[in-house]
Amino acid sequence: MSGQIEILAISGSLRTHSSNTALLHAAAQLAPAGIAVSVYDGVGDLPLFNPDLEGQEPVSVLELRRQLRVSHCVIISSPEYAHGVTGAIKNLLDWVVGSGELVDKPVALLNASARATWSHAALTEILTVMNARLIPAASLTIPLINNAVTLEDILSNGDQVATLRLALSALSNAVCVPVTA
Ligand SMILES: Cc1cc2nc3c(=O)[nH]c(=O)nc-3n(C[C@H](O)[C@H](O)[C@H](O)COP(=O)(O)O)c2cc1C
Repeated sequence: MSGQIEILAISGSLRTHSSNTALLHAAAQLAPAGIAVSVYDGVGDLPLFNPDLEGQEPVSVLELRRQLRVSHCVIISSPEYAHGVTGAIKNLLDWVVGSGELVDKPVALLNASARATWSHAALTEILTVMNARLIPAASLTIPLINNAVTLEDILSNGDQVATLRLALSALSNAVCVPVTA
């Protein structure tokens, strides 16, 4: 593949000071030449998924789908709520089950907490049934100390920077590898 690799980074947290969102902004800052990471900022604008709106989706949904279509791959980082996925990330994913923007799309599932095993497993299952191409080598756990971790904290942590760089490299490699390889 030639040209820049475009990655859309999606956080499953709506918190202004979300550690998951900070992790994705760190990935954006660490992206090497040839890789561009855009952090999607419309999760909170999506209405609750309703199949009745098929064919008359609101602009926020159409824009989400457009951003997914023009991205070569996706990074998702989401907190765990009550041993499940957050409503925000599930709602976003529900909006693209039928339209199919994630089909065959390489996806890295980052986990910002070593304790969040339930949501990680659930997201793995959801993305698998949606026929996304999960990239295990890029789906790494980067345990943040707590949910007050900032972008600056992450960028000054050598281990976290190294793991994020590894995830970006594995994800970009996946874009270059044919699906059938
Ligand atoms: C309602 C609620 C439920 C939570 N449930 C869990 C849980 O089941 N397991 C867990 O590891 N953390 C749980 N947490 C902690 C969050 O996952 C944690 O604070 C995370 O860092 C929040 O992500 P954010 O900083 O990106 O918003 C919960 C937090 C909230 C607010």
